[in-house]
Amino acid sequence: MRLSALCLLAVSLTCSVAFAQETGTPYHRAGELEVDPYEVSNENAGADPFTGQAMLEAFNGREGISRIVDDFVEGVRTDPRTEKIFAASDWKRLDRTLNEQFCYILGGGCDYTGRNMTEVHRDHGITRAEFNAVVEILQAAMRKEGVPFRMQNRFLAKLAPMERDTVTR
Ligand code: HEM
Repeated sequence: MRLSALCLLAVSLTCSVAFAQETGTPYHRAGELEVDPYEVSNENAGADPFTGQAMLEAFNGREGISRIVDDFVEGVRTDPRTEKIFAASDWKRLDRTLNEQFCYILGGGCDYTGRNMTEVHRDHGITRAEFNAVVEILQAAMRKEGVPFRMQNRFLAKLAPMERDTVTR
């Protein structure tokens, strides 16, 4: 009897810790830098999701997306054309929000909880050349994952209008 009560206590303690970590604040997660409050919405992702599963499959599911985001983040961090702009980035947050955003847009059923594209890029003074460099880095990551060329282009077509939101000079 006493042992089962102890088990129950242990389970409920574990659950409440996990729940607190899971819910946390909606703006940043454990291990990420604090950000100013904003309205959390999938509309912040900047594009509507594809319907159906074809795009998700072409990107090898959420694992494929995660590998693409890893390569993409490593690319923008080290490419001489983008490294300075990303120098002060919160890599943990960038990795998480990009995974959410790509998964949401590709129809993977995720929610995007990051900031809106205009607001997050406003103060970075991004040029069109830098935007193009980011697209090239993403193309290389998708190519490495083996995403068919036609599907790469369908995804890029969704992201292309974000040039308006990110390029400010
Ligand atoms: C299609 C184009 C782009 C997409 C989809 C995109 C996506 C994102 C996302 C999801 C975030 C994180 C949002 C958040 O923290 O709430 C972010 C942040 C950021 N992006 Fe972009 N981005 C794009 C273009 C660019 C370009 C062209 C540059 C610069 C060359 C850039 C530089 C940055 C920087 C510096 C941050 C902030 C990182 C931080 O403060 O921690 N982005 N972007």
